[in-house]
Amino acid sequence: MDFFKIVEDRRSMRKYANTPIEDEKLHKILETANKAPSAGNLQGYEIYIVRKLEQRKALVKAAMDQEFLAEAPVVLIFCANPARSVEKYGERGTSLYAIQDATIACAYSQLAAKAQGLDSVWVGAFDENAVSESLHLPPELRPIILLPVGYAGKEPRPRPRRDLRDLIHEA
Ligand SMILES: Cc1cc2nc3c(=O)[nH]c(=O)nc-3n(C[C@H](O)[C@H](O)[C@H](O)COP(=O)(O)O)c2cc1C
Repeated sequence: MDFFKIVEDRRSMRKYANTPIEDEKLHKILETANKAPSAGNLQGYEIYIVRKLEQRKALVKAAMDQEFLAEAPVVLIFCANPARSVEKYGERGTSLYAIQDATIACAYSQLAAKAQGLDSVWVGAFDENAVSESLHLPPELRPIILLPVGYAGKEPRPRPRRDLRDLIHEA
């Protein structure tokens, strides 16, 4: 699949089919995340896989009743792991790079999902403590993104973007 078509076709999916996703496809998503750049190549993040319905329901609660988190067969949790970045980068490592590392890995994952006919949506609106508690995450990790992944349950509409003339500036 053409890279630019994958980027063009990716849309936030908020309705999922009741179909499991293949292990190989999930593995490919995770391998792709692992290829993302990171500060100092320290990979200051961790990814948790959530499959159990009970846990996905807990995520719905932690994320302001975003019900599709329980519909998707898999939710990936991208967590910053500042301890991996702090030694080399200090405060900038903990407050910025670890979060950026997790963020880039998630962006790669969304595209890897799309390239395999799967959809996802970036969920950033959630109670961090509630997510950490319900999944028993190690206290040093900070959940940054919940990413439900699955087969589309509907055809999503493309969202508009800013005009390049508004977005781009000559310095
Ligand atoms: C940092 C961030 C936080 C987001 N949080 C949520 C969220 O909590 N729930 C949701 O449904 N979508 C969320 N989104 C998805 C955006 O709403 C979506 O990407 C945007 O409207 C553009 O639509 P598109 O992804 O279909 O191109 C988030 C996206 C980002 C990057």
